[in-house]
Amino acid sequence: MSTNQRKILVTSALPYANGSIHLGHLVEYIQTDIWVRFQKMNDQECYYVCADDTHGTPIMLRAEQEGITPEALIERVHTEHLQDFTDFNIDFDNYYSTNSDENRELAEGMYLKLREAGLIESRMTEHYYDPEKEMFLPDRYIKGECPKCHAQDQYGDGCEVCGATYTTTDLIKPYSAVSGATPVRKETEHFFFKLSECIDFLREWMKSGNQGSSPLPSESVNKLEEWFDAGLRDWEISRDAPYFGFEIPDAPGKYFYVWLDAPIGYMASFKNLCARKDIDFDSFWGKDSKTELYHFIGKDILSFHALFWPATLHNADYRTPSKICVHGFLTVNGQKMSKSRGTFITARSYLDFLQPEYLRYYFAAKLNDKVEDIDLNLEDFIARVNSNLIGKYVNIASRTAGFISKKFAGRLCDSIDEMDIIPLERVKREADNIAECYENRQFSEAVRLIMDMADTANEYVNDMQPWVIAKEKGKEERLHQICTTGINLFRILTIYLKPILPEMAQQIETFLNIEPLQWHDSETLLLDHEIRKYKHLAKRIEEKQVNDMLEKNEQTLGAQPEKSKLAAAKKTPQTEQTPIADTIEFDDFAKIDLRIARIVKAEHVEGADKLLQLTLDIGEETRNVFAGIKSAYNPEDLEGKLTVMVANLAPRKMRFGLSEGMVLAAGPGGKDLWILEPHDGAQPGMKVK
Ligand code: MSP
Ligand code: ZN
Repeated sequence: MSTNQRKILVTSALPYANGSIHLGHLVEYIQTDIWVRFQKMNDQECYYVCADDTHGTPIMLRAEQEGITPEALIERVHTEHLQDFTDFNIDFDNYYSTNSDENRELAEGMYLKLREAGLIESRMTEHYYDPEKEMFLPDRYIKGECPKCHAQDQYGDGCEVCGATYTTTDLIKPYSAVSGATPVRKETEHFFFKLSECIDFLREWMKSGNQGSSPLPSESVNKLEEWFDAGLRDWEISRDAPYFGFEIPDAPGKYFYVWLDAPIGYMASFKNLCARKDIDFDSFWGKDSKTELYHFIGKDILSFHALFWPATLHNADYRTPSKICVHGFLTVNGQKMSKSRGTFITARSYLDFLQPEYLRYYFAAKLNDKVEDIDLNLEDFIARVNSNLIGKYVNIASRTAGFISKKFAGRLCDSIDEMDIIPLERVKREADNIAECYENRQFSEAVRLIMDMADTANEYVNDMQPWVIAKEKGKEERLHQICTTGINLFRILTIYLKPILPEMAQQIETFLNIEPLQWHDSETLLLDHEIRKYKHLAKRIEEKQVNDMLEKNEQTLGAQPEKSKLAAAKKTPQTEQTPIADTIEFDDFAKIDLRIARIVKAEHVEGADKLLQLTLDIGEETRNVFAGIKSAYNPEDLEGKLTVMVANLAPRKMRFGLSEGMVLAAGPGGKDLWILEPHDGAQPGMKVK
């Protein structure tokens, strides 16, 4: 190993364990993975760790709604998340959990150090409390009426209808989103980390970090200046039971706020890796560490990583981060990702229809070192992948490989002509520039340079016209040289693209019959070497694939278990609504003949586990109807009730007999299902209008 080998620990933010990975998340994991792969190709000692962020109220409540323990929930989600990441070729050295022994020990240790340093203080504070659920509620669980426009069901930070911003205490008629009860303000004791005392340290750190240069992008430095000018408040680091998290030492019933132990999860994941791989933990985290520590994060979590995290690390005698790489947010077709617009695309929906490396390529082509939002424009996505990745790059191989296997038994020639050296040299010369772009996270510039080089390679093949030379007598050697050059151009471009397209690079290594490519391999040529037969590497994206993905994604969002189960678990399911269907004309509605019916008889149906058999009186006649309401009603409770039925629904033959209509019911299903019950006075047979 060379003596100047770098030792780098890299992290991405830990995704919450209560939701699926979506394309927005993937901006970050793909960005980090590309950077890490580039370091590893350069033979640096680089580790990439991550974990699920498993603690906090939302995860506790979500598990409760699903009727499972938080432990069972986070285990299931861990498996799902890791599968999504693996399928996108995100190659973590460790993907762990914040709910681990390592994390508990490190979090307790950190807290005790800060307490010894006199930076922890306890104070009485007032918080929202749900008297019915008997728990303190985070602000995001309080809803109410907008004080400006009086829209209902608005969150405490602002109104989605009129855009007004205010605080939770301004809400009119606030209610708990958990139980519906009116929350009260209640006093409780909490622990605070005295961030206000860290301002001098932070100002200094922000400017010169621990290696003499700012660890933050300039936009983020500006943001920090604003925060400093506004004054730093102490940070509340505890929560009351019930809470899913770590209990605080010497404080029964008090738990670490999830954001205290979440970043410590970076250390815990690494510690777990160290134990397995025999790596020295302290040399990476000790105060005088000479290693590098890189955190990749989104702009929304800057304060946690640029204020609390360095301040707590510093005061607990650990090293601070070398760099915090901040990216912007993903928009889809120019708009914020949204479930109702169908642009909230999950990793899994994408994978069901499209190749993971196409998204990696597209994100790389758009990412830079700025804190800018990036847009996934789906038309542009199709166009760029098809015309650049496939049309330019993959094309070079498909234009030259065939001749090598057909005419030269798969063997590359042992020397090339001087005129072939020119394009090869030009492409080789870019290695350092491209490397610098990768190092500085200017991936879009790297992709631009690589595609320029692909143009150079295609021009060479166009000029040499191997398909013409192949037909000319006595030109075999020349053809051999041209095609060997083409394959070598393709090989160098593959090295350049490998951090972005690791799976395709692997297929190409198999095709070229070579060891895994390293960055410095771009200095050499592949000559006098037998390659395998060329197989098609990549297919163009069809518009249909994207449309099918959007359609399927919308369906899965609608039918997400979290939604239906959430509704079933709540006593007031009307809070979870199905979207209103498309409008119909009055004539369409008038075709439905709705009648008041009296349930004269209700019985179980043998062999049917959902159905009840109803005999309905609709005035002039009685109808036999099978209704799927057994999970919600006992037959004896139904007899005598009035209800509403569709009287002109075509009769349907069922396994148990003929069903002559349908009764109307509302609700998500299971126990939560209600038939319609008109007031007494309505008469069987009356038409419902
Ligand atoms: N659990 C915290 C992070 C704790 S780190 C000690 C969290 N989780 S998250 O699941 O909400 O987000 C994980 C990462 O994905 C964050 O860096 C966040 O900025 C990023 N993104 C989430 N949605 C995103 C977009 N729509 N676009 C780009 N990045 C996004 O925050
Ligand atoms: Zn409003």
